[in-house]
Amino acid sequence: MSLSRRKILVGSGIAASSLAMGNASAQAAAPQPFAPHNWKSVRAQFLLSPRFAHLSNFFFASNPAPVRDAITKYRKAFDENPYSFLDDNMFQLDEDKLWPDVCAAAAEYVGGKPEEIALTSSTTMGLALIYNGLRLKPGEEVLTTTHEFYPHHESIRLAVEKWGGSMRKIPLYESSLNFSAEEAIARICAAVRPNTRVVGVTWVHSGTGVRLPIAELAAALKSLNRHRDESNRILLVVDGVHGFGVVDEDVAKMGCDFFSAGTHKWILGPRGTGIIWAKAENWELLQPTIPSLMAKETTDAWRQDRPPVGPTHAAWISPGGFFAYEHQWATIEAFRFHRQIGRTRVQDRIAELNSQIKEGLARMKHVTLHTPLDPALSAGFVCFDVKGYKPMDVVKIFRDHRVIASGTPYAVPHVRLSAGIVNFPKDIDMALRVVRSLA
Ligand SMILES: Cc1ncc(COP(=O)(O)O)c(C=O)c1O
Repeated sequence: MSLSRRKILVGSGIAASSLAMGNASAQAAAPQPFAPHNWKSVRAQFLLSPRFAHLSNFFFASNPAPVRDAITKYRKAFDENPYSFLDDNMFQLDEDKLWPDVCAAAAEYVGGKPEEIALTSSTTMGLALIYNGLRLKPGEEVLTTTHEFYPHHESIRLAVEKWGGSMRKIPLYESSLNFSAEEAIARICAAVRPNTRVVGVTWVHSGTGVRLPIAELAAALKSLNRHRDESNRILLVVDGVHGFGVVDEDVAKMGCDFFSAGTHKWILGPRGTGIIWAKAENWELLQPTIPSLMAKETTDAWRQDRPPVGPTHAAWISPGGFFAYEHQWATIEAFRFHRQIGRTRVQDRIAELNSQIKEGLARMKHVTLHTPLDPALSAGFVCFDVKGYKPMDVVKIFRDHRVIASGTPYAVPHVRLSAGIVNFPKDIDMALRVVRSLA
Protein backbone atom coordinates (compact mmCIF):
# COMPACT_ATOMS: atom_id res chain seq x y z
CA MET A 1 0.00 0.00 0.00
CA SER A 2 1.31 3.42 -0.92
CA LEU A 3 2.33 5.68 1.96
CA SER A 4 2.11 8.75 -0.21
CA ARG A 5 1.07 12.13 1.11
CA ARG A 6 -2.54 11.52 0.13
CA LYS A 7 -2.61 8.73 2.66
CA ILE A 8 -1.19 10.68 5.58
CA LEU A 9 -2.92 14.03 5.02
CA VAL A 10 0.35 15.85 4.80
CA GLY A 11 0.28 19.61 4.75
CA SER A 12 -3.07 20.27 6.29
CA GLY A 13 -1.64 21.66 9.50
CA ILE A 14 -2.77 21.12 13.04
CA ALA A 15 -6.13 19.70 12.05
CA ALA A 16 -4.51 16.95 10.00
CA SER A 17 -2.01 16.08 12.68
CA SER A 18 -4.79 15.88 15.26
CA LEU A 19 -6.52 13.42 12.97
CA ALA A 20 -3.32 11.45 12.58
CA MET A 21 -2.88 11.33 16.35
CA GLY A 22 -6.40 10.02 16.88
CA ASN A 23 -9.34 11.71 18.52
CA ALA A 24 -8.44 10.99 22.13
CA SER A 25 -5.01 12.65 22.07
CA ALA A 26 -6.28 15.49 19.91
CA GLN A 27 -8.90 16.27 22.52
CA ALA A 28 -6.34 16.03 25.31
CA ALA A 29 -4.09 18.54 23.53
CA ALA A 30 -7.10 20.76 22.66
CA PRO A 31 -5.01 23.41 20.91
CA GLN A 32 -6.51 26.88 20.70
CA PRO A 33 -7.16 27.76 17.06
CA PHE A 34 -4.30 29.81 15.67
CA ALA A 35 -5.22 33.48 15.27
CA PRO A 36 -2.44 34.86 13.05
CA HIS A 37 -3.41 38.50 13.68
CA ASN A 38 -2.98 38.17 17.42
CA TRP A 39 0.64 38.22 18.67
CA LYS A 40 -0.33 36.31 21.83
CA SER A 41 -1.75 33.54 19.68
CA VAL A 42 1.41 33.60 17.56
CA ARG A 43 3.52 33.17 20.69
CA ALA A 44 1.24 30.38 21.93
CA GLN A 45 2.34 28.31 18.93
CA PHE A 46 5.83 27.98 20.44
CA LEU A 47 7.13 25.85 23.32
CA LEU A 48 9.61 28.56 24.39
CA SER A 49 10.09 28.50 28.14
CA PRO A 50 8.11 31.38 29.69
CA ARG A 51 10.85 31.70 32.35
CA PHE A 52 13.05 33.64 29.94
CA ALA A 53 12.96 36.68 27.71
CA HIS A 54 14.17 34.96 24.51
CA LEU A 55 16.13 37.63 22.69
CA SER A 56 18.39 35.34 20.63
CA ASN A 57 15.86 33.35 18.66
CA PHE A 58 17.55 34.29 15.38
CA PHE A 59 20.28 31.76 16.24
CA PHE A 60 18.31 28.52 15.93
CA ALA A 61 14.55 28.61 15.65
CA SER A 62 12.08 27.31 18.14
CA ASN A 63 9.48 25.80 15.80
CA PRO A 64 5.82 26.84 15.88
CA ALA A 65 3.15 24.15 16.40
CA PRO A 66 2.33 23.48 12.72
CA VAL A 67 6.03 22.84 11.98
CA ARG A 68 6.42 20.59 15.03
CA ASP A 69 3.25 18.70 14.13
CA ALA A 70 4.40 18.12 10.56
CA ILE A 71 7.80 16.88 11.77
CA THR A 72 6.11 14.53 14.22
CA LYS A 73 3.75 13.22 11.58
CA TYR A 74 6.51 12.50 9.07
CA ARG A 75 8.78 11.04 11.74
CA LYS A 76 6.06 8.64 12.86
CA ALA A 77 5.51 7.50 9.28
CA PHE A 78 9.27 6.98 8.84
CA ASP A 79 9.52 5.04 12.08
CA GLU A 80 6.60 2.82 11.12
CA ASN A 81 7.85 1.94 7.63
CA PRO A 82 11.00 3.80 6.61
CA TYR A 83 11.52 2.05 3.28
CA SER A 84 8.03 2.51 1.88
CA PHE A 85 7.51 6.01 3.24
CA LEU A 86 10.74 7.29 1.69
CA ASP A 87 10.36 5.34 -1.54
CA ASP A 88 6.76 6.48 -2.08
CA ASN A 89 7.39 10.15 -1.30
CA MET A 90 10.83 10.55 -2.86
CA PHE A 91 11.38 8.10 -5.70
CA GLN A 92 8.10 6.88 -7.21
CA LEU A 93 5.29 8.98 -8.69
CA ASP A 94 6.10 12.64 -9.35
CA GLU A 95 2.78 13.69 -7.84
CA ASP A 96 3.68 12.00 -4.54
CA LYS A 97 7.12 13.62 -4.20
CA LEU A 98 7.28 16.10 -1.36
CA TRP A 99 10.48 18.03 -2.07
CA PRO A 100 8.91 19.89 -5.04
CA ASP A 101 6.27 21.14 -2.60
CA VAL A 102 9.02 22.57 -0.39
CA CYS A 103 10.47 24.32 -3.44
CA ALA A 104 7.00 25.63 -4.33
CA ALA A 105 6.45 27.01 -0.80
CA ALA A 106 9.90 28.65 -0.81
CA ALA A 107 9.31 30.02 -4.32
CA GLU A 108 6.04 31.60 -3.28
CA TYR A 109 7.79 33.25 -0.32
CA VAL A 110 10.66 34.63 -2.44
CA GLY A 111 8.37 35.67 -5.30
CA GLY A 112 10.12 33.29 -7.71
CA LYS A 113 9.59 29.91 -9.35
CA PRO A 114 9.88 26.42 -7.77
CA GLU A 115 12.56 25.41 -10.28
CA GLU A 116 14.74 28.30 -9.02
CA ILE A 117 15.08 26.72 -5.56
CA ALA A 118 17.68 24.23 -4.34
CA LEU A 119 17.18 22.63 -0.93
CA THR A 120 20.14 22.69 1.45
CA SER A 121 20.70 22.07 5.15
CA SER A 122 21.91 25.58 6.09
CA THR A 123 23.15 28.94 4.88
CA THR A 124 26.66 27.57 5.18
CA MET A 125 25.96 24.60 2.93
CA GLY A 126 24.33 26.88 0.34
CA LEU A 127 27.28 29.28 0.26
CA ALA A 128 29.74 26.39 -0.06
CA LEU A 129 27.75 24.87 -2.95
CA ILE A 130 27.62 28.22 -4.76
CA TYR A 131 31.30 29.18 -4.48
CA ASN A 132 32.62 25.66 -4.93
CA GLY A 133 30.37 25.27 -7.97
CA LEU A 134 31.23 28.53 -9.73
CA ARG A 135 33.81 27.66 -12.31
CA LEU A 136 36.14 30.58 -11.62
CA LYS A 137 39.00 30.98 -14.04
CA PRO A 138 42.53 31.26 -12.64
CA GLY A 139 43.22 34.91 -11.80
CA GLU A 140 39.55 35.80 -11.28
CA GLU A 141 38.68 37.50 -8.01
CA VAL A 142 35.90 37.31 -5.45
CA LEU A 143 35.41 40.73 -3.89
CA THR A 144 33.82 40.57 -0.47
CA THR A 145 33.62 42.62 2.71
CA THR A 146 35.22 42.56 6.13
CA HIS A 147 31.72 42.17 7.65
CA GLU A 148 31.02 38.61 6.48
CA PHE A 149 30.54 35.78 8.94
CA TYR A 150 32.93 32.82 8.99
CA PRO A 151 31.01 30.47 6.62
CA HIS A 152 30.95 33.09 3.85
CA HIS A 153 34.64 34.01 4.08
CA GLU A 154 35.59 30.36 4.43
CA SER A 155 33.46 29.21 1.46
CA ILE A 156 35.18 31.84 -0.69
CA ARG A 157 38.65 30.97 0.61
CA LEU A 158 38.20 27.26 -0.09
CA ALA A 159 36.78 27.91 -3.55
CA VAL A 160 39.44 30.36 -4.74
CA GLU A 161 42.13 28.01 -3.46
CA LYS A 162 40.58 25.26 -5.59
CA TRP A 163 39.92 27.36 -8.72
CA GLY A 164 43.16 29.35 -8.59
CA GLY A 165 41.43 32.68 -8.00
CA SER A 166 41.78 35.21 -5.21
CA MET A 167 39.65 36.97 -2.62
CA ARG A 168 39.77 40.56 -1.39
CA LYS A 169 37.89 42.02 1.58
CA ILE A 170 36.90 45.66 1.92
CA PRO A 171 35.12 47.51 4.75
CA LEU A 172 31.78 49.11 3.82
CA TYR A 173 31.74 51.41 6.84
CA GLU A 174 33.94 52.60 9.67
CA SER A 175 31.02 53.36 12.01
CA SER A 176 28.17 50.86 11.74
CA LEU A 177 25.93 53.19 13.79
CA ASN A 178 26.31 55.85 11.11
CA PHE A 179 26.05 53.40 8.23
CA SER A 180 25.36 54.99 4.86
CA ALA A 181 23.90 52.74 2.18
CA GLU A 182 25.07 55.06 -0.60
CA GLU A 183 28.62 55.04 0.71
CA ALA A 184 28.64 51.24 1.03
CA ILE A 185 27.51 50.80 -2.57
CA ALA A 186 30.02 53.41 -3.77
CA ARG A 187 32.81 51.59 -1.92
CA ILE A 188 31.94 48.27 -3.55
CA CYS A 189 31.68 49.75 -7.03
CA ALA A 190 34.99 51.62 -6.59
CA ALA A 191 36.70 48.42 -5.45
CA VAL A 192 35.61 46.33 -8.46
CA ARG A 193 38.60 45.52 -10.70
CA PRO A 194 38.66 44.09 -14.22
CA ASN A 195 39.29 40.60 -12.79
CA THR A 196 36.47 40.81 -10.19
CA ARG A 197 34.02 38.07 -11.19
CA VAL A 198 31.98 37.77 -8.00
CA VAL A 199 30.85 40.21 -5.32
CA GLY A 200 29.87 38.40 -2.11
CA VAL A 201 27.94 40.27 0.60
CA THR A 202 25.64 39.65 3.55
CA TRP A 203 22.13 41.12 3.65
CA VAL A 204 22.07 41.73 7.39
CA HIS A 205 25.41 41.76 9.23
CA SER A 206 25.22 39.59 12.33
CA GLY A 207 28.23 41.39 13.85
CA THR A 208 26.74 44.91 13.73
CA GLY A 209 23.08 44.63 12.73
CA VAL A 210 23.59 46.70 9.56
CA ARG A 211 21.26 45.87 6.67
CA LEU A 212 22.62 46.30 3.13
CA PRO A 213 20.27 47.50 0.38
CA ILE A 214 20.69 44.48 -1.89
CA ALA A 215 18.39 45.72 -4.67
CA GLU A 216 20.31 49.01 -4.94
CA LEU A 217 23.65 47.21 -4.89
CA ALA A 218 22.44 44.82 -7.61
CA ALA A 219 21.34 47.80 -9.72
CA ALA A 220 24.76 49.46 -9.31
CA LEU A 221 26.56 46.26 -10.35
CA LYS A 222 24.20 45.92 -13.30
CA SER A 223 25.46 49.31 -14.54
CA LEU A 224 29.07 48.10 -14.26
CA ASN A 225 28.10 44.94 -16.12
CA ARG A 226 26.95 46.97 -19.13
CA HIS A 227 30.63 47.26 -20.06
CA ARG A 228 31.30 43.53 -19.71
CA ASP A 229 30.68 40.37 -21.74
CA GLU A 230 28.19 37.88 -20.37
CA SER A 231 31.06 35.45 -19.62
CA ASN A 232 32.75 38.11 -17.51
CA ARG A 233 29.64 39.52 -15.80
CA ILE A 234 30.03 40.39 -12.10
CA LEU A 235 27.88 37.95 -10.12
CA LEU A 236 26.29 39.02 -6.86
CA VAL A 237 26.19 36.32 -4.17
CA VAL A 238 24.21 37.05 -1.00
CA ASP A 239 24.31 35.45 2.44
CA GLY A 240 20.70 36.35 3.11
CA VAL A 241 19.93 34.48 6.29
CA HIS A 242 19.20 37.37 8.64
CA GLY A 243 16.98 39.22 6.20
CA PHE A 244 15.06 36.07 5.17
CA GLY A 245 11.93 35.92 7.33
CA VAL A 246 12.49 39.51 8.51
CA VAL A 247 12.52 41.91 5.58
CA ASP A 248 9.39 42.29 3.45
CA GLU A 249 11.11 42.03 0.08
CA ASP A 250 10.82 39.52 -2.77
CA VAL A 251 14.27 37.94 -2.86
CA ALA A 252 13.70 36.86 -6.46
CA LYS A 253 13.21 40.50 -7.48
CA MET A 254 16.19 42.03 -5.65
CA GLY A 255 18.50 41.44 -8.61
CA CYS A 256 21.15 39.28 -6.95
CA ASP A 257 22.44 36.20 -8.74
CA PHE A 258 22.64 33.68 -5.91
CA PHE A 259 20.95 33.86 -2.50
CA SER A 260 21.61 31.41 0.32
CA ALA A 261 19.68 31.29 3.57
CA GLY A 262 18.97 28.76 6.26
CA THR A 263 15.27 28.33 6.99
CA HIS A 264 16.02 27.38 10.59
CA LYS A 265 16.47 30.94 11.85
CA TRP A 266 13.98 33.72 11.08
CA ILE A 267 11.80 31.53 8.84
CA LEU A 268 11.22 29.41 11.98
CA GLY A 269 11.57 26.19 10.01
CA PRO A 270 12.96 22.84 11.09
CA ARG A 271 16.57 22.72 12.21
CA GLY A 272 18.99 21.66 9.49
CA THR A 273 17.09 23.21 6.57
CA GLY A 274 17.83 25.95 4.05
CA ILE A 275 17.51 27.07 0.45
CA ILE A 276 19.48 28.59 -2.39
CA TRP A 277 17.57 30.76 -4.83
CA ALA A 278 18.91 31.58 -8.31
CA LYS A 279 17.49 32.15 -11.78
CA ALA A 280 17.74 29.31 -14.34
CA GLU A 281 20.56 30.99 -16.28
CA ASN A 282 22.64 31.24 -13.11
CA TRP A 283 22.16 27.61 -12.09
CA GLU A 284 23.80 26.81 -15.44
CA LEU A 285 26.99 28.44 -14.16
CA LEU A 286 27.38 25.98 -11.30
CA GLN A 287 29.10 22.64 -11.25
CA PRO A 288 27.36 20.37 -8.72
CA THR A 289 29.44 19.45 -5.69
CA ILE A 290 27.35 16.73 -4.02
CA PRO A 291 25.46 14.03 -5.96
CA SER A 292 21.76 14.89 -5.98
CA LEU A 293 18.83 12.54 -5.47
CA MET A 294 16.42 15.06 -6.95
CA ALA A 295 17.95 15.25 -10.43
CA LYS A 296 16.59 12.67 -12.85
CA GLU A 297 19.17 13.41 -15.53
CA THR A 298 22.21 12.84 -13.32
CA THR A 299 20.88 9.54 -11.97
CA ASP A 300 19.76 8.38 -15.46
CA ALA A 301 23.19 9.30 -16.83
CA TRP A 302 24.88 7.27 -14.11
CA ARG A 303 22.74 4.22 -14.88
CA GLN A 304 23.48 4.59 -18.58
CA ASP A 305 27.17 5.13 -17.92
CA ARG A 306 27.35 8.50 -19.69
CA PRO A 307 27.99 12.11 -18.59
CA PRO A 308 24.83 14.04 -17.69
CA VAL A 309 23.55 16.35 -20.38
CA GLY A 310 23.28 19.86 -18.97
CA PRO A 311 22.54 22.60 -18.32
CA THR A 312 22.69 22.37 -14.52
CA HIS A 313 19.33 22.91 -12.82
CA ALA A 314 18.63 23.86 -9.21
CA ALA A 315 17.71 20.23 -8.44
CA TRP A 316 21.20 19.13 -9.51
CA ILE A 317 22.65 21.33 -6.77
CA SER A 318 20.27 20.13 -4.02
CA PRO A 319 22.55 17.72 -2.22
CA GLY A 320 21.78 14.05 -1.83
CA GLY A 321 22.39 11.47 0.39
CA PHE A 322 19.39 10.91 2.52
CA PHE A 323 18.38 13.92 4.61
CA ALA A 324 16.29 14.28 7.75
CA TYR A 325 13.29 14.44 5.43
CA GLU A 326 10.84 14.94 8.26
CA HIS A 327 12.60 18.29 8.69
CA GLN A 328 13.06 19.15 5.03
CA TRP A 329 9.42 18.49 4.17
CA ALA A 330 8.01 20.22 7.25
CA THR A 331 9.63 23.46 6.03
CA ILE A 332 6.46 23.92 3.97
CA GLU A 333 4.62 24.64 7.22
CA ALA A 334 7.09 27.36 8.23
CA PHE A 335 6.48 29.26 4.98
CA ARG A 336 2.75 28.75 5.47
CA PHE A 337 3.03 30.15 9.02
CA HIS A 338 4.71 33.32 7.71
CA ARG A 339 2.13 33.65 4.98
CA GLN A 340 -0.70 33.36 7.50
CA ILE A 341 0.75 36.14 9.66
CA GLY A 342 1.77 38.25 6.67
CA ARG A 343 5.28 39.25 5.62
CA THR A 344 4.66 42.96 6.14
CA ARG A 345 3.30 42.41 9.64
CA VAL A 346 6.30 40.24 10.52
CA GLN A 347 8.69 42.92 9.27
CA ASP A 348 6.88 45.73 11.09
CA ARG A 349 6.67 43.81 14.37
CA ILE A 350 10.37 42.95 14.30
CA ALA A 351 11.25 46.57 13.46
CA GLU A 352 9.03 47.92 16.23
CA LEU A 353 10.46 45.65 18.94
CA ASN A 354 14.09 46.14 17.91
CA SER A 355 13.53 49.90 17.72
CA GLN A 356 12.32 49.73 21.32
CA ILE A 357 15.63 48.11 22.27
CA LYS A 358 17.69 50.63 20.30
CA GLU A 359 15.87 53.67 21.59
CA GLY A 360 16.16 52.41 25.17
CA LEU A 361 19.89 51.76 24.82
CA ALA A 362 20.53 55.04 23.02
CA ARG A 363 19.35 56.88 26.15
CA MET A 364 21.98 55.15 28.34
CA LYS A 365 25.29 57.00 28.64
CA HIS A 366 27.22 53.84 29.59
CA VAL A 367 26.15 52.08 26.37
CA THR A 368 27.73 52.33 22.91
CA LEU A 369 25.21 51.36 20.26
CA HIS A 370 26.55 49.85 17.02
CA THR A 371 23.34 49.22 15.05
CA PRO A 372 21.76 52.02 12.99
CA LEU A 373 18.58 53.42 14.55
CA ASP A 374 16.84 53.55 11.18
CA PRO A 375 14.78 50.35 10.64
CA ALA A 376 15.48 50.62 6.91
CA LEU A 377 19.21 50.19 7.59
CA SER A 378 18.84 47.42 10.16
CA ALA A 379 16.63 44.37 10.77
CA GLY A 380 16.36 42.07 13.80
CA PHE A 381 19.66 42.72 15.60
CA VAL A 382 20.82 45.29 18.12
CA CYS A 383 24.58 45.22 18.80
CA PHE A 384 26.16 47.28 21.57
CA ASP A 385 28.83 47.49 24.27
CA VAL A 386 28.50 48.36 27.94
CA LYS A 387 31.22 50.53 29.41
CA GLY A 388 33.50 48.57 31.76
CA TYR A 389 32.15 45.12 30.77
CA LYS A 390 33.36 42.48 28.34
CA PRO A 391 30.51 41.49 25.96
CA MET A 392 30.40 37.87 27.14
CA ASP A 393 30.21 39.02 30.76
CA VAL A 394 27.15 41.10 29.89
CA VAL A 395 25.63 38.02 28.21
CA LYS A 396 26.19 36.05 31.43
CA ILE A 397 24.59 38.80 33.53
CA PHE A 398 21.61 38.83 31.17
CA ARG A 399 21.28 35.06 31.60
CA ASP A 400 21.40 35.41 35.40
CA HIS A 401 18.44 37.78 35.01
CA ARG A 402 16.57 35.39 32.68
CA VAL A 403 17.30 37.29 29.48
CA ILE A 404 18.74 35.20 26.64
CA ALA A 405 21.20 37.47 24.82
CA SER A 406 24.23 36.56 22.71
CA GLY A 407 27.74 37.79 21.99
CA THR A 408 28.76 38.33 18.37
CA PRO A 409 31.36 35.65 17.49
CA TYR A 410 33.51 38.02 15.40
CA ALA A 411 37.10 39.31 15.90
CA VAL A 412 35.66 42.35 17.67
CA PRO A 413 32.75 41.02 19.75
CA HIS A 414 29.69 42.98 20.91
CA VAL A 415 26.63 42.21 22.98
CA ARG A 416 23.64 41.33 20.77
CA LEU A 417 19.91 41.40 21.45
CA SER A 418 17.45 40.29 18.83
CA ALA A 419 13.69 40.52 19.07
CA GLY A 420 11.42 38.41 16.87
CA ILE A 421 7.71 37.76 16.50
CA VAL A 422 7.73 35.61 19.66
CA ASN A 423 8.58 38.65 21.81
CA PHE A 424 6.59 41.35 23.56
CA PRO A 425 7.56 44.83 24.79
CA LYS A 426 7.83 43.40 28.33
CA ASP A 427 10.77 41.19 27.21
CA ILE A 428 12.55 44.30 26.04
CA ASP A 429 11.76 46.16 29.27
CA MET A 430 13.35 43.24 31.14
CA ALA A 431 16.51 43.43 29.04
CA LEU A 432 16.74 47.22 29.30
CA ARG A 433 16.41 47.03 33.11
CA VAL A 434 19.42 44.73 33.22
CA VAL A 435 21.54 47.05 31.08
CA ARG A 436 20.42 50.08 33.12
CA SER A 437 21.60 48.34 36.29
CA LEU A 438 25.14 48.13 34.84
CA ALA A 439 25.59 51.92 34.77
C1 LIG B 1 25.57 36.17 8.69
C2 LIG B 1 25.48 34.71 8.95
N1 LIG B 1 25.63 33.85 7.93
C3 LIG B 1 25.54 32.52 8.10
C4 LIG B 1 25.30 31.99 9.34
C5 LIG B 1 25.24 30.50 9.49
O1 LIG B 1 23.95 30.07 9.21
P1 LIG B 1 23.62 28.52 9.09
O2 LIG B 1 23.62 27.97 10.48
O3 LIG B 1 22.28 28.47 8.46
O4 LIG B 1 24.69 27.92 8.26
C6 LIG B 1 25.14 32.84 10.44
C7 LIG B 1 24.83 32.31 11.77
O5 LIG B 1 24.08 32.88 12.55
C8 LIG B 1 25.26 34.23 10.24
O6 LIG B 1 25.16 35.08 11.26
